[in-house]
Amino acid sequence: MRIDIELTDADQQHALRADARAGLTAEAKWLPPKWFYDKYGSELFERITTLPEYYPTRAERAALAAHATDIATVTGARTLVELGSGSSEKTRLLLDALHQRGHLDRFVPLDVSESALRDAATALDRDYPGLTVHGIVGDFTRHLDRIPTSADRLVAFLGGTIGNLVPTERAAFLAALRAVLRPGEWLLLGTDLVKDPATLVAAYDDAQGVTAEFNRNVLHVLNRQLGGDFDPAAFRHVAHWDVEREWIEMRLLAERDMTVHLADLDLVVPFAAGEQLRTEVSAKFRRPGVTAELAAAGFELTHWWTDPADRFAISLARSR
Ligand code: SAH
Ligand code: AVI
Repeated sequence: MRIDIELTDADQQHALRADARAGLTAEAKWLPPKWFYDKYGSELFERITTLPEYYPTRAERAALAAHATDIATVTGARTLVELGSGSSEKTRLLLDALHQRGHLDRFVPLDVSESALRDAATALDRDYPGLTVHGIVGDFTRHLDRIPTSADRLVAFLGGTIGNLVPTERAAFLAALRAVLRPGEWLLLGTDLVKDPATLVAAYDDAQGVTAEFNRNVLHVLNRQLGGDFDPAAFRHVAHWDVEREWIEMRLLAERDMTVHLADLDLVVPFAAGEQLRTEVSAKFRRPGVTAELAAAGFELTHWWTDPADRFAISLARSR
């Protein structure tokens, strides 16, 4: 097993400082969602995937279970790359199907969370003898050029994580991915689908409060990494369905007037009671939109599969 560190602690610190300064001094405050995922945040995400309200993981798993053999047959991939791989649990369905078809020899998970990546890579290395596991600690918006150029690659981007990028970021990401693939290589993309708002909001505002804790975790990350004095308990978790943009927005609402200090940035951040900090968007998709976004980046959608309840889609697309 090999793990490449393309993102050192110093790089991460530098990027977090830049994001915190930009987002917390903006007129409408915001933070990028990748900062949720320290060790504790990655564990909280895994708990979210088991919540009764959070259907996307179960729905995507159902779609993958039904179509993993098709994916292996159509792509004939020798290398499986996974972006934002996390625990790589559902990915085992793909590894099993590709292995059965007899061509798979390398798995390349890439994640910004070193703890999640190491745990997953270690477990897969143990459970799949004969498979070369080559992990990359990196940012999928910056380090796609570090993916090894081995033969016959299939890149999986699961979980609906593409929805955590806003449309301009998605276009840039897909174009950058297309640029590192050879014509004929494959992308398997998981996207959550537009559905009734009550189901969507419940998935992001669960009764046990695990998603609220995940949301507030970003404040703990800022406190620890940037010498901050956020009081996370003074921020209320909000999950809002934006009907026009068709995305869930997670926010943290200041329950009172506050002044927060980030000592390492020499930054004072005032919050008025009721002010909201946007911490994540989670876009929901429809087939024509996915097809168009893929086509604009140079991918041809060849297969579209959903779970039996049509909640979540996996798209298979070939680079042109
Ligand atoms: N693919 C898994 C995990 C989804 S959670 C699943 O379907 O269950 C999102 C994952 O993406 C986390 O592991 C997080 O650490 C990672 N991530 C978020 N932003 C990232 C970025 N910019 N670059 C690389 N990984 C990122
Ligand atoms: C990783 N990503 C696809 C999750 C989502 O559903 O947007 C992150 C998440 N946020 C809140 N709950 C889960």
